[in-house]
Amino acid sequence: MISLKLDRNADFPLYAQIREAIKKEIEEGRLNAGEKLPTVAVLSKKLGVTQVTVLRAYEDLINENCILTQVGRGTFVRDKSGKQTPTHFNPYGRFLKSPFEPADPEMSYTVRRLRMGIARSLEDLKILLERPGLIKFTSGVPDPEIADPDVLRRCTMKALEKGQQHYEGYIGPPGLEELREAIAERFRKRGAAVTRDHVLITNGSQQAVAILAQLALENNMRIICESPSYQGMPNAFGAIGHWVESLPRDNEGPIPGKFAKYYDGKPSMLYLCTLFHNPMGTSLSAGRGAMVKEWAEEQDSLVISDEIFCDLAFNGPDTSYFHALGEDRTIVIGSLSKSFMCGLRIGWMVTKPERIRAIAGLKRAMDIGSPSLMQGIAHVILASGEYEKHLVRAREHYRTRKETIIRNLEKNMPEGVTWTNPGGSMHLWVSLPPGYSSIALYLLAVERGVGFSPGPQLDIDHRFLNGFKLSYGSVSLSEIEEGVELLADAVKVLLAHPPADAGLNGLGDFL
Ligand SMILES: Cc1ncc(COP(=O)(O)O)c(C=O)c1O
Repeated sequence: MISLKLDRNADFPLYAQIREAIKKEIEEGRLNAGEKLPTVAVLSKKLGVTQVTVLRAYEDLINENCILTQVGRGTFVRDKSGKQTPTHFNPYGRFLKSPFEPADPEMSYTVRRLRMGIARSLEDLKILLERPGLIKFTSGVPDPEIADPDVLRRCTMKALEKGQQHYEGYIGPPGLEELREAIAERFRKRGAAVTRDHVLITNGSQQAVAILAQLALENNMRIICESPSYQGMPNAFGAIGHWVESLPRDNEGPIPGKFAKYYDGKPSMLYLCTLFHNPMGTSLSAGRGAMVKEWAEEQDSLVISDEIFCDLAFNGPDTSYFHALGEDRTIVIGSLSKSFMCGLRIGWMVTKPERIRAIAGLKRAMDIGSPSLMQGIAHVILASGEYEKHLVRAREHYRTRKETIIRNLEKNMPEGVTWTNPGGSMHLWVSLPPGYSSIALYLLAVERGVGFSPGPQLDIDHRFLNGFKLSYGSVSLSEIEEGVELLADAVKVLLAHPPADAGLNGLGDFL
């Protein structure tokens, strides 16, 4: 047993004293490689300190590669020969530990590399989409066909009429008052009691998530993302230094049975795409919403409700989830990217005013505030009626395409293949019978002249092998007809070869 003496009057924190003392024991050879350290409970009792103090010391020693933890066996002094030391580099400081992430940094590094390696190989599949003449069901941006080509010029001129001085200074977070008011007004029309004080303008909803990732880091919150999902969000959390847990979803939202492990008292931040989910196209059901709200309250957690597709509801905007998920714990994010124009980079966060004030500091640190001219233009777009006119065209455009694709799926797809039928947005989700690979299908389909997004590309852990996304928003009606026919041919070839063991790469022995 190591002998440690703590100085309770010293300025040096107790956890750091424990850490340094153990390091000294190792350096001076009183603790040798492979030797087992006392458990956190035993050492805390012996030293008369809390378990958290010992845990923090052990965490630091793990991060410094002095010790390692083996699940179920205990904590051991590391072999410092250096051979197995990972070249792990975390530019954002210490790792956030999750109970599901391997405690050993070497193992954790390997798991991260595995995720990233598979993701990179799956990204490489996209090169095949560059084949000339391919019908691509992959675009997630507004179809340029919908846009009035002069709208941006008109709105910009109108914004500039306010005079150059209007845009000369920094306006800082939370953003241009009139734009925040216009956004709050749209929320009120959707049944949410939101004022301009609830709104912070961001550079796209992507930046909203980057800011929230920083907030979670500061507050030591675990990150959970529903899966499948738009990968930009888990990737943003990962880039800022989080380990991302995934929560599998079905057509109604997070699967209740998969939620069980997150009832562990650890405050978390949960990302959900609540309305016309990307990639599934379905919205969070009332029952699952109630489950999420209850979980967030019980676990002292926050929920991000991504409502980027809300204005693309075919029958007019749906109610916001701001109230249903609990106003105290919900942060709604949105932007003009899907409903109007990605290039404006105008997005927003809506949450209670106290949280907006706290978040404003992080936004200020990133860029002082979103560009005032772009905010001015966005305000004109919303306030002048141009946005509503555009939405009428956009909803009709996407609704017609959705109806065409559904009709053609019904006509051509063999039995056993199912799909969602979204009430808005520009994508839907197709499921092959269990065991069949959407990656194998992708290769067969590209060969025949049609491309889509296979399920494993849309999950941080690369599951959902038998699912895939069809983005129909920017495909012409005749191409939808032709593309679905070609795709159905590829599906028929795939289904003629019953899957054996799908294997790790999802291809099995099919190819
Ligand atoms: C579901 C979802 N949320 C957010 C974004 C990011 O959009 P932006 O940063 O342009 O608002 C995307 C982009 O594809 C998306 O699909």
